[in-house]
Amino acid sequence: MTATAIPEPNVYNNVVRYEALMEVVRARMTNRAFAPWDVPHEHFELILEAARHAPSGANSQPWHYIIVTDPELKRTIGQCFVDEQQARARLRMGFPTPNYNGVKTAPGLIVIVADFRFVKAFPVLNDGSPLDRLYKQNAERILLQSVAASTMSAHLAAAALGYAVWWITAIGQEQIQQQVKPLLGVPEELAIIDVMCFGPPAKPSYKRWKKSLAEIMSWNRFDPRNFMTDEEIDRWIKTTRAKVMYRDESRVD
Ligand SMILES: Cc1cc2nc3c(=O)[nH]c(=O)nc-3n(C[C@H](O)[C@H](O)[C@H](O)COP(=O)(O)O)c2cc1C
Repeated sequence: MTATAIPEPNVYNNVVRYEALMEVVRARMTNRAFAPWDVPHEHFELILEAARHAPSGANSQPWHYIIVTDPELKRTIGQCFVDEQQARARLRMGFPTPNYNGVKTAPGLIVIVADFRFVKAFPVLNDGSPLDRLYKQNAERILLQSVAASTMSAHLAAAALGYAVWWITAIGQEQIQQQVKPLLGVPEELAIIDVMCFGPPAKPSYKRWKKSLAEIMSWNRFDPRNFMTDEEIDRWIKTTRAKVMYRDESRVD
C-alpha cells in the first residue's frame, strides 16, 4: 500500500505541546520596573526570530525592530515617555497612567517601527475616491494588526526566556515621534509604533485579571449576555479599569 496523507491521530491533538505553549502564554506578565541585567545579544536575536515568523497582511512584514543597548539612549527615550505621561496628566484624561521611569534602565529595550507605505500592498483602489479612503483606513488597521501580531510573538519569546515584559504604545504620540526618530535614525517615512521592554522584574510580576472563557466566547451566534451597554462600559472604566490594570487578579472584586 502506498503512503497516504492521513496523519497519525495525535498530530492534531498535541496536548503536550499545547501545554508547553500555554505555560509561556500564562507566564507572560507585564512589569514596569526591572532589575539590572545584561541581556546577551543572542537573547535579542531569539526574541526577534520569533517576531520574524509572524503573519502579516499580504505577507508584507511592514516592521522593523531597533534594539537599543546604549544606556544614554535608553535614558533619553525613557524621559520622552515620562514627559508624555506628564503632558497627559495636565490634559486631565483621567487615565491611570503608570510610571515610565522604568524604561530608562530596562535591560532589554526594543523600538518597534512600522512602514505604513505598505498599505498600498493591501486591497486599495489608489484613485483618491471616498471609497479608496475607506479601504486605505482599513488597510492601516490591517497593517497595525500585522505589527501587533509580530510584536506579540516577540513578547512571548521574551516570556519563554523567563523575562518580564512591558508593551508601551508610541503610535500617535507626536512628541515621541519627533524626539525618538532622529535619535535612532528612523527615516521620516516610518513610524514608531511601540516600545518593548523586558528583563528580570524588580519585584515579582503578578497575574492580572482576565475575562473567563465564557465571557469571551460564543458558539455560532454572539451570546447577548456578553454584550455591554455604553453605560456599563462607562461604569467599568470608572470603577474597574484601574484595578484590572494595576492589581493582582485575586484583588479584583
Ligand atoms: C496594544 C497594547 C498597548 C499597550 N500600551 C501600554 C502603554 O502605553 N503603557 C503601559 O504601561 N502598558 C501598556 N500596555 C500593557 C497593558 O497595560 C497590559 O498588557 C495589561 O494591563 C494587561 O496586563 P498583562 O500584560 O500583565 O496581562 C499595552 C498593551 C497592549 C497589548
